[in-house]
Amino acid sequence: SAVSGVPHLLTDNDLSSKQLSDVIRMACKFKHQAKVLGKPSGAPLAGKTMALMFSKRSTRTRVATESAVTYLGGHAMFLGSQDIQLGVNESLLDTSKVVSSMVDGIMARVGAHSEIETLAKYSTVPIINALSDLYHPTQILADLMTLHELYTPKGSDPHSVSPTTTLKNLRMAWVGDGNNILHSLMLQLPKVGMHISMATPKGYEPNADILKQAQKNATDAGTEIGVFHDPKEALRGADIVVTDTWISMGQEEEKKQRIKAFAGYQLTTELITESGAQPDWKFLHCLPRKQEEVTDDVFYSPRSHVFQEAENRKWTILACINQLLVEKGF
Ligand code: CP
Ligand code: NVA
Repeated sequence: SAVSGVPHLLTDNDLSSKQLSDVIRMACKFKHQAKVLGKPSGAPLAGKTMALMFSKRSTRTRVATESAVTYLGGHAMFLGSQDIQLGVNESLLDTSKVVSSMVDGIMARVGAHSEIETLAKYSTVPIINALSDLYHPTQILADLMTLHELYTPKGSDPHSVSPTTTLKNLRMAWVGDGNNILHSLMLQLPKVGMHISMATPKGYEPNADILKQAQKNATDAGTEIGVFHDPKEALRGADIVVTDTWISMGQEEEKKQRIKAFAGYQLTTELITESGAQPDWKFLHCLPRKQEEVTDDVFYSPRSHVFQEAENRKWTILACINQLLVEKGF
């Protein structure tokens, strides 16, 4: 979305199907250029600063963003909640005006999604959502890049084929919480022609407005969204099986009641195969991971691509930053 002419990436619907495919292909190109060929970037962000305003902890998103900005020749400035007045002792309005007057882009990890909307309203530079309670758009870019790499036919170059071709008609099953990761998956998967079936416990369904928006995306794309409570139903026919923690950041005090509510939702090889997933099913997880949502025999199996997925946070965030700060928009 653009606020006052400044382009931002706040939710998954800020990317069209074509823009999403282009970002994934660019990410593949950067990965090849930087990692395989060992080539420098030409430093298009020389002299520029990207601020990372994070009000929650992070391993992947922080390391991905800082190393991506370094590769592009810019400076990444990490501003944790202990370091700056992020909504504590100073309004988000004032913080946004001040920080954006001195930097060239902002990566923001917030609590309530309304906080990033406020930042975007008053920022004079592009803002990328590094996770809010409702969305985690850059995570799904990495998920789709990983699947694109896995499903690109041998002998083809992932940069030169479209994810809308390699991923078309694949079915993802989500078993777990109706959280920010699920919301972002529901919105993005239709844009590459993928179906999604989800199973969440009663009381932990996805946000109803976001589900409605996702159903609209699916109708436009001609893809399916299946909404269930029974993990077996969601897993039937799945090509890709995905979950996330049952206790997101900020929900720590609900741990006891959540563990109870999610009984029966742990992903095990047995549950997945007995439910009729495809014989060659694959597993993804955004990390950080806890044992309660998925057993080691799935998480560390050859079917699991979680570490490739984690690394791809860097290449997809790099492609987003390049698009917003160097190419000046999507
Ligand atoms: N997947 C993810 O966003 O990880 P971090 O919270 O460590 O950044
Ligand atoms: N749902 C998790 C994702 C962490 C990357 C959370 O919000 O904490």
